[in-house]
Amino acid sequence: MKLIRSKFELLTDIQLLKFLGKTIGFVPTMGALHAGHIALVKRAVAENDICIVSIFVNPTQFNNITDLEKYPRNLERDAKLLENAGCELIFAPESDMIYNSDEISNRFEFDFGGLDTVMEGKFRPGHFNGVVQIVSKFFQLIQPNKAYFGEKDFQQLAIIHNMVNILNFDVEIVDCPIIRESSGLAMSSRNERLTAEQCKKAVEISKVLFESRNFAAQLSPKKLTRWVINRINSVPELEVEYFEIVNSKTLQTLVSWSEPAVGCIAVYCGEVRLIDNIRYIK
Ligand code: PAF
Repeated sequence: MKLIRSKFELLTDIQLLKFLGKTIGFVPTMGALHAGHIALVKRAVAENDICIVSIFVNPTQFNNITDLEKYPRNLERDAKLLENAGCELIFAPESDMIYNSDEISNRFEFDFGGLDTVMEGKFRPGHFNGVVQIVSKFFQLIQPNKAYFGEKDFQQLAIIHNMVNILNFDVEIVDCPIIRESSGLAMSSRNERLTAEQCKKAVEISKVLFESRNFAAQLSPKKLTRWVINRINSVPELEVEYFEIVNSKTLQTLVSWSEPAVGCIAVYCGEVRLIDNIRYIK
């Protein structure tokens, strides 16, 4: 496995791979890898000639400087996990290799037609703009045939699909299911920050989401939304930031069950912000 830090070295390798007709599967990450990431990597390894993983804590998608500074970084540990999973190439650039100072202070603004102003977008303004800024740069550099994203970040995935359409990227976006702990808790790098006691409480999030499926036939989306919020808020230390049942393509709030529905949630467990989602089958 090769670790590349320079964009120029990466471009030389990509040119060679393209010349040899190799297919490239790409998994973008910010490091602090867990079993959810590794599942994406294994799928990319199985479905392509070469698997490339980026590890880059992207400054432009953080609203909060302390959050950015505190983001866990452990390249050595991540590299070992990736090698074991069959990844051939890690691209781990420094920020100034990717952005010039102007791009950080004066950001390029994308238009997602409202996909980015709801849910996460309401609470983390500018976040998705930063995600698209970095993912589009990586797509240009790496030119992957397929790119793998987890459904845990449901809104991110919807926006990436939109970006690929608008910017005409020749890449297939592969949606990968949420990987959960045996308790049901969705895997996340942030779970590491939970105490054992908080972990038990956080399990209630997925438990309530799964339970809510049983009521979808009897309750309207609005009533089910209230039910989920009340149930989760009744657990000490859990506080729902938002829960919305939305159309899985447009991400607009549903008033009836006539459209494909997904319930997306953000919950604070103590100081740790967790997200999860669930599909409702008609
Ligand atoms: O999902 C993430 O970890 C990040 O948003 C991504 C896609 C790697 C872009 O920085």
